[in-house]
Amino acid sequence: MKEKLLNILRDFRQEIDSANSLEEVETIRVAYQGKKGHLKTILKDMGKLSKEDKPVIGKLANELRDEIDATISQKVKEIKQLNMKQKMESEYIDITLPGKRQKFGAIHPTSKIIKRLIDIFYRMGFELTDGPEIESVYNNFDALNAPKSHPSRDKSDTFYFDEETILRTHTSPIQIRTMKRLKPPIRTISIGRCFRNDEFDSTHSPMFYQMEGLVVAEGVTMANLKSTLDTFARELFGEGTNTVFRPHNFPFTEPSAEVDVTCFKCKGEGCKFCSHTGYIEILGCGMIHPNVLEECGIDSEKYTGFAFGMGIDRITMMKYEIEDIRRLYENDVKFLEQFRR
Ligand code: DAH
Repeated sequence: MKEKLLNILRDFRQEIDSANSLEEVETIRVAYQGKKGHLKTILKDMGKLSKEDKPVIGKLANELRDEIDATISQKVKEIKQLNMKQKMESEYIDITLPGKRQKFGAIHPTSKIIKRLIDIFYRMGFELTDGPEIESVYNNFDALNAPKSHPSRDKSDTFYFDEETILRTHTSPIQIRTMKRLKPPIRTISIGRCFRNDEFDSTHSPMFYQMEGLVVAEGVTMANLKSTLDTFARELFGEGTNTVFRPHNFPFTEPSAEVDVTCFKCKGEGCKFCSHTGYIEILGCGMIHPNVLEECGIDSEKYTGFAFGMGIDRITMMKYEIEDIRRLYENDVKFLEQFRR
């Protein structure tokens, strides 16, 4: 029996030496120390031993068990250390290597101006309203008092889907939607894309941005329109900016005006940006025509209002001194990257 035990120890040592993984060690442990392991199997015969042999063999069996236990623990420790070392080596990062440069995007200059416009008008108490780019001929023209003969309605100037549906040519149809939806007092701005069948050149784009302003309440006058636009012009272009109202004609306003502001570049001296006039045209405006108010169900005897519409691209080009509108639509990253700040 003593021999059998020593054989077990010898076999165990061999097997454990060649084990490389925790799984293998576990298999060996079960084979030797488990309930049906070699050691237990042999010790079953202890009862048959003589009185003298029993303690000797018992002691030997205990020593053997302790040795197997200790060897296994030691082996497990070694394998774990080895695994950790291999993992560290495989995940090694050379922190001295040069990094990969992160590319940051920039906000598009038109988006920056839009944000600025919203900020300015929010502070004056205006709310933002919206309308679709695909509009009815009714909202875009008829409800805005444009006669059937108005040149902008021409098939060659406007993108028609069918007789009643177009790509809106301005943001003014949002006025109609807003006045039909809300009751006075109304004080809103609306921003969006508009479409006209223009050739793409340095000052024209078939798709462009406009901002519309609308105020309807009791007792609104041209003086309110003027002070609103004066305040706006000074906020956007700086103190000392003057506005000039020139009489004009729009079907949806009466009286109507175009508004020029002091040239941002020469401050009124005259330069190439303002064609040496000292002023730059930025918008159209006027007192809302009674026909338009009535069309939207607003009593034109009780309420008056003003409206204005401006080209956002134009303003963006002025603010950032961009000389060609096409730059705003080309998605040229080299160009757009300049607007990081
Ligand atoms: N819708 C006009 C345009 O596209 C601009 C405009 C002029 C809007 C006068 C207005 C306005 O609201 O009152 O040229």
